[in-house]
Amino acid sequence: MKIKQDNFQLMVAPLQGLTEAAWRSVHHDMFGDGWNTVEYFTPFIRVEKGEVRPRDLRDFTSELNRGLMLTPQIIFRDADEWRMLVDTLLKAGAKRIDMNLGCPFVPQVRKGRGAGMLCHPDRLEEIAEIMPSYADSVKFSVKMRLGVDDPAEALCLTDILNSMPLRHVTVHPRTAVQQYKGDLLLADMDTFTSRLEHPVIFNGEISSPSQIAALSSVYSGVMVGRGLLARPSLFSEFLSGEELSPVQQEEAYLSLVNTTSDVLAQKLCGAAQLREKMRPYWEYAPSSLDRKIVKQGKKHGIIKNVY
Ligand SMILES: Cc1cc2nc3c(=O)[nH]c(=O)nc-3n(C[C@H](O)[C@H](O)[C@H](O)COP(=O)(O)O)c2cc1C
Repeated sequence: MKIKQDNFQLMVAPLQGLTEAAWRSVHHDMFGDGWNTVEYFTPFIRVEKGEVRPRDLRDFTSELNRGLMLTPQIIFRDADEWRMLVDTLLKAGAKRIDMNLGCPFVPQVRKGRGAGMLCHPDRLEEIAEIMPSYADSVKFSVKMRLGVDDPAEALCLTDILNSMPLRHVTVHPRTAVQQYKGDLLLADMDTFTSRLEHPVIFNGEISSPSQIAALSSVYSGVMVGRGLLARPSLFSEFLSGEELSPVQQEEAYLSLVNTTSDVLAQKLCGAAQLREKMRPYWEYAPSSLDRKIVKQGKKHGIIKNVY
C-alpha cells in the first residue's frame, strides 16, 4: 500500500462503552505489533456533579493502557469545565488532550457540550485565549462535526480554531442532527478544511485498506471507529499491504470480542454485568458473519467456540 505522506497518522476513534481500556489493550496486543504511531483516544471524559467523573478518569489511568499511545478526550460546556478537566488530566499524566466538539447526543448538545459547543463561539474564544498558557505542558487537538443542523456552522469557527495551538483537527463530515448515518457532507468539509491552517484528520465510514490509501493522498491522517470494531485488523492490513480473507477477518473479530470479555470478566461483578457490557460489540459484527451467530451474540453478549 503506497502512503503518500511519511507521517500519515492512523487513529482509533473514541467510542463510548466500546473502545475502552479492555478493548484497547486487547486490540493493541493482537494487532499492534510494531506500531509506534497508531494513536488511541479515550471516549469523552466529562464533569459530573462538579467533579471529573471518576469512572471516566479510571479509563485513562488504567494499567491496561500500558504500552499504547493514548490520548484522553474531554467534553465541556465552558472554560470552567475545560480548565477542571485539563488540570485533572495533567495531574494524571496526560501529554496530549483531545477536545470533543462533535458529540451529537441531544442532552449533551442542549447543555452546550460536544457539537453544542459549535454554537458558542464566545465560549470557544475564551478557551482559545487560555490554551497558550498550557502550551508547555500539553498538546491539544480537536474532533468535530460541521455543525448542529447546518454544515456551514463550522465556517464561523475557522478563525478561532486557527488561533488555537492544535496538533490537528479531526472532522466527521456530518451535522449532529444526522447522528452517525446519512450522506457524508464532503463538499462542505472541503470548504471548511480549505480555510483551516491545522493538519486535518478524516473520520467517517472507513472500512477498507483501499479507502485509507485513497484518503492518505488528501489528509494528514484517518481516524476509524466502527470500521475497526468490525475489522480490527484494518490498520495492520493497511500497513502490511496484505488483506485478510473475510473468514480471517471474522476470526479476528471473534477473537477480539472473546478476549475482551475475558479481560472484563476479571474487572466486572458477575455474569449479568459482563453480558450487558459485551452486547453492544455485536452491533458492529462484520457483515459477512453468520447472522445466527450475531443474533446469539446480541442476546447473550458472549459466545465461545464459534469456529
Ligand atoms: C456508540 C458510539 C460512541 C461514541 N463515542 C464517542 C466519544 O466518546 N467521543 C467522540 O469524539 N466520538 C464518539 N463517537 C463517534 C466516533 O468517534 C466516530 O466519530 C463516529 O463513529 C464516526 O466514525 P466511524 O464511521 O469510523 O465509526 C461515538 C460513536 C458511537 C457509534
